[in-house]
Amino acid sequence: MSKKTVLTGITTSGTPHLGNYVGAIRPAIRTSSDPSVASYYFLADYHALVKCRDPERVHRSTLEIAATWMALGLDTETATFYRQSDIPEIPELTWLLTCMTAKGLMNRSHAYKAAVQDNEQAGEDADLGINMGLFSYPILMSADILMFNATHVPVGSDQLQHLEMARDIAARFNHHYGDHFALPEAVIDSGNAVLPGLDGRKMSKSYNNTIPLWLESKKLRKHIMKIKTNSLEPGEPKDPDDSALFTIYSAFVDQNERDEMRQAFADGIAWGQAKQQVFERIDQELAPSRERYQDLMANPEEVEAVLIKGGLRARESASVFMQQLRAAVGIRPLK
Ligand code: TRP
Repeated sequence: MSKKTVLTGITTSGTPHLGNYVGAIRPAIRTSSDPSVASYYFLADYHALVKCRDPERVHRSTLEIAATWMALGLDTETATFYRQSDIPEIPELTWLLTCMTAKGLMNRSHAYKAAVQDNEQAGEDADLGINMGLFSYPILMSADILMFNATHVPVGSDQLQHLEMARDIAARFNHHYGDHFALPEAVIDSGNAVLPGLDGRKMSKSYNNTIPLWLESKKLRKHIMKIKTNSLEPGEPKDPDDSALFTIYSAFVDQNERDEMRQAFADGIAWGQAKQQVFERIDQELAPSRERYQDLMANPEEVEAVLIKGGLRARESASVFMQQLRAAVGIRPLK
């Protein structure tokens, strides 16, 4: 197995927010142009169906997320950027892996167990509302990763278990059918990667505390003014280490500016003034890409063309590899 291969997927069930940007999109775009790394970024639209049954939403989210990555400068010449559903080899591989996956392994999945527990606590049948997609979702995710022999998979810490499962499934397959798959490793972002939301908890769609990425300046400012602070008055010293506002600011500035803001907190900067500075900094970083984003949203055929091209490129290796895997399990011409 040859060069470092980075791969990550983005589920297409929502609108990109600042937390996605800082935690996943910005670092990925920075590596996307590194020619020494093979990078794969894809829109996990099959994953979206596990939770989202609103076709308009899945469709719209796919466009929004693709346009976001492109507007922010993803290097789609160097990196392979595609839509999961354009690679029929992925569901095909999912089946081969499904037949190698112990049901007991899936029983231990946190996401599935949490759903069962919610049902039990509510006094309902344990399986109420749980579809097979939720149950076997880690196998689809394993296929995404193993299809391209990814070695490094940047994910949030909530996805660690899924990476362990992918390794487990790959090892089992290798053990039985020969050495076909590289064992992937999770790359957990450190530092600023987890951005707090308006209420100070992790910024997440499920907490309803997000700041959408593509708000126009005025609305962006309004949202930032809503970030929760405390009742300390101007002139009273404030603790940066206990402030979501400071953490958010830190994700957008260098060490110098961070230290300056730390000092301003100690000197009792007014919350309104600090928020204004945070707004200006974020706006300054995003404004140059905003127009490009709107432009792509208005011209979805441009986005479509890029995805089609990426999908064809991804399939060049996927179809050859799939052929090899099919043969390995005994599915090959009879002559
Ligand atoms: N399950 C991931 C998430 O919710 C998204 C995803 C799907 C993914 N397939 C993947 C991430 C493969 C990394 C690799 O965040």
